[in-house]
Amino acid sequence: MPRKIVLIGPMGAGKTSLGKRLASKLRWAFADTDHMIVARTGADISLIFEREGEMGFRCREHEVLRDVLAEPRDMVVSCGGGIVLLAQNRQLLMAQALVIFLDISVERQLQRVKNDRNRPLLKYADRRQKLQQLREERWGLYEGIADIYLSTDENHFTTSFQRLIVSI
Ligand code: S3P
Repeated sequence: MPRKIVLIGPMGAGKTSLGKRLASKLRWAFADTDHMIVARTGADISLIFEREGEMGFRCREHEVLRDVLAEPRDMVVSCGGGIVLLAQNRQLLMAQALVIFLDISVERQLQRVKNDRNRPLLKYADRRQKLQQLREERWGLYEGIADIYLSTDENHFTTSFQRLIVSI
């Protein structure tokens, strides 16, 4: 049975960079659900949100998650921050992957998440308020399906990452 390690958590937590490092250490393939959506549609995420609404984006996100989990090879997969919103995605992840919740505080997020076409949810909103609201809505969903919790705050990141690598 091919193995999957999946990174979930808020925007700006470092899922993509950690995912790439983890995949290269393990010599496994790497995928990122946002990148897969952009590659499949030829449109960036903001455009998909504009044309199809958030629900259209969530449907596409579900399709890429289902497909990537079905790939017959060991993979590390980084997911968009909203992957946990659909119950079907949470079920797939719990059943088929080792799930790492990569957490970050709103303060650190504000420093890391600058203007970005891949984050339309922050486009019109007060960024602090929106990030806080998303944290409140989603934290329990991340925690509910995670096998491993890692915080990227206060420079614990490197230590936690090394511990994780050693334990695999
Ligand atoms: C989203 C996070 C983004 C991207 C989209 C929606 C979210 O991915 O999927 O803008 O709902 O939190 P990152 O978590 O990689 O920024």
